[in-house]
Parts: sequence; structure tokens; C-alpha cells
Amino acid sequence: MERILIGDSEILIGHGRPEPLLPWRESRRMAVVITQPGAAAIARDLARQIPDSEIVTLPDRDEAKTVSVAEGVYHQLADIGFGRHDTVVGVGGGAVTDLAGFVAATWVRGVESVLVPTTLLGAVDAAIGGKTGLNLAGKNLVGAFHLPTRVVIDHDVLAALPDQLRLEGTAEALKAGLIGDPELVDLFAKDGRRLSLEVMVTRAVAVKVGIVKADLREDGRRAILNFGHTIGHAIEVGGGLPHGLAVAVGMVAAGSVSAARYGFPDRWLSELISSLGLPVAVAGVSPEIVLALIARDKKRTAAGVRMVLLREVGDPVIDVVNEREIEVGLSAVGIRD
Ligand SMILES: NC(=O)c1ccc[n+]([C@@H]2O[C@H](COP(=O)([O-])OP(=O)(O)OC[C@H]3O[C@@H](n4cnc5c(N)ncnc54)[C@H](O)[C@@H]3O)[C@@H](O)[C@H]2O)c1
Repeated sequence: MERILIGDSEILIGHGRPEPLLPWRESRRMAVVITQPGAAAIARDLARQIPDSEIVTLPDRDEAKTVSVAEGVYHQLADIGFGRHDTVVGVGGGAVTDLAGFVAATWVRGVESVLVPTTLLGAVDAAIGGKTGLNLAGKNLVGAFHLPTRVVIDHDVLAALPDQLRLEGTAEALKAGLIGDPELVDLFAKDGRRLSLEVMVTRAVAVKVGIVKADLREDGRRAILNFGHTIGHAIEVGGGLPHGLAVAVGMVAAGSVSAARYGFPDRWLSELISSLGLPVAVAGVSPEIVLALIARDKKRTAAGVRMVLLREVGDPVIDVVNEREIEVGLSAVGIRD
């Protein structure tokens, strides 16, 4: 398998999985395998490879990313005597890897984690880079930076994904191209929905790893990974869209703000996103709720609402935007007239 390093944290990409799955450093350690309904069969299969392991199945999607679900997991760890030298294994999409990563970051002040992303979105984004998070009055307000010891991306698992999950992950793979790999964007434009998953995964992971390595704790440049997320997160929470689809719409909104500031070709971007089968607008989402969610973010940054804009493909910039510009973004995706 291809091996990529972020410090001591390794990402293995290939067909199948390493044997043994866990990078044990001691002869006897326990693992808790945290998963979700859609990945439970894969988790059971993996758990068979780990001699002393227990499986914990979370509620689906972001229902899992709550303080009370985390508390339930902590109690299970306490019951089985899970200790400092044991390993948290997260098998699932981004909701699982965010929760499992957070539990690993906080249990007895931090234990090792191994993440096995089973969605495209998890593989190209959520499982990479050590950001963990729970939702509380907004997305990811509780969280920690905690790099997993190992991430295992199995192309065969991703090849079996249903179309809907492939689509959701395509949005974050395209985002990676837009902020850091113009050639990947060209491939999306040329091959559309036929673009090979392996190409998407390899290139998008390379973009993310490059950005994370240069700014592990998001003191600055790492924030460019939030392209499409300022308005996207508000649409996800306010409109109940899955993360990847909300990000697709958020990228259209950010594209139109980029057009107004920098002359970015927003119509081209919207057509590209649409050609991949992703949404470029939303209906029935209240502008008041979306604006309130964005305003809540604003309170947390001294300067105002920060948005990642594109001067051109591969040239992102983190800007403070004004209310008028946010309105432009919302109009572009049908939230404002
Ligand atoms: N930490 C980060 O850097 C980061 C980055 C991007 C997104 N995220 C987070 O990731 C989450 C979204 O991740 P996601 O889109 O992977 O969603 P998810 O974890 O909610 O999973 C989506 C669905 O896929 C199902 N599923 C998982 N694996 C499957 C498989 N192999 N086959 C069939 N079904 C399967 C799940 O049961 C669920 O219904 C959001 O909470 C988002 O905030 C985190």
C-alpha cells in the first residue's frame, strides 16, 4: 500500500488492508471498534482481525456527533477497563471518524486511534489531518486536534459505495482540486462522473496532506480547506442536507462571491458542479436561519465573517466578507431572491 506520513501519523492507501490492521507496539492491547449502521459489516470483519476487541455502533450520520453519544462511549470504555495503551478504531464515514477521534483525543488524556474511512468523503477529507469534532449549537464546536496513528484507505471498500455516498464525497474531492490541484479539476471537467475513484482519492488526499503538514493546528493557511463551508455548514444545519451536498452548494455560493471580488468564473464552476450530479442550489431553506448560523460563526472570529474565496483555480484566499457579499452568495444558490 502507498504510505504517506504526517509526522508519525501514517496514511495507507491501496487495495485491501494491512496485516495486522493495528500498529501494535506491545503484545497485548485492547481495541474498541467504533462504527455506524452503514459500515457495521466492514467493522465486524475488521474486528475479527483484532484479538481483543469490542464493537460499539453509533447512531447514523451526525446523530452520532453529540456530547451525550460520546458520554455513552466513555461509559462503555470505563466498563471494559479501556486504558492508556489501548486503541480506538473508527470504521465509518466522517461522523464516526470525528467522534472516534474525539474519544481517542480525550479518553485518559489521549490514546492512539486507527481510522478506516468507509465513505469517499471520509477518505478524501474527514479522516485525514487530525481534526475531530462533535456538534453542539452548531457544527464541530467541541473538538480537538488528535492525529490518528494510522489511517487505512481501501479502494475496494470505496468502489462498493452506493451512488449517493460517492456523490457526497465527490464534492470534497472537487474542493481539494479547486484549492490545490488544478489538474484534478481538469480531470473532473474532462471525465465528469466517470473520473476514477482512485485518482480522486490519491490526488485529494495529497492536497489535504500538503496543507495540513504546513499548518497542523490551523493557525492560518489550513483554513483554505473550508472553501464552500462558511455558507455550506449553515445550509447543512439549517436545511438538513448531507455534508457533501451542502458543501457543493456552499462552493457555488463562494464562487459567486469570488466572481464579484476577483472575477472568478462562477458560472463555469456552477456548471462543473452540476455536471457531476451535485446540487447547485437549495429550495425551502430559510435565509434568516442561514444568516443567523453564519452570524454565530462571526462572533467567534474577531474580524468578521471569514470566507475562502478563489482568485482562480488553485489560488484560494481567506477573506473577511461583508453582509452584502454574503447576500450575493445566498442569492446565487436560491436562498435569497
Ligand atoms: N474532521 C474533518 O476534517 C472533517 C472534514 C470533512 C467532514 N467532516 C465531517 O464528516 C461528516 C460527514 O462524513 P460522511 O459524509 O462520511 O458521513 P457519515 O459518517 O454521516 O456517513 C454517511 C452515511 O454513509 C453510511 N456508510 C458509511 N460507510 C458506508 C459504506 N461503506 N457503505 C454504505 N454506507 C456506508 C453511514 O451509515 C451513513 O448513513 C460530517 O459530520 C462532517 O462534519 C469532518
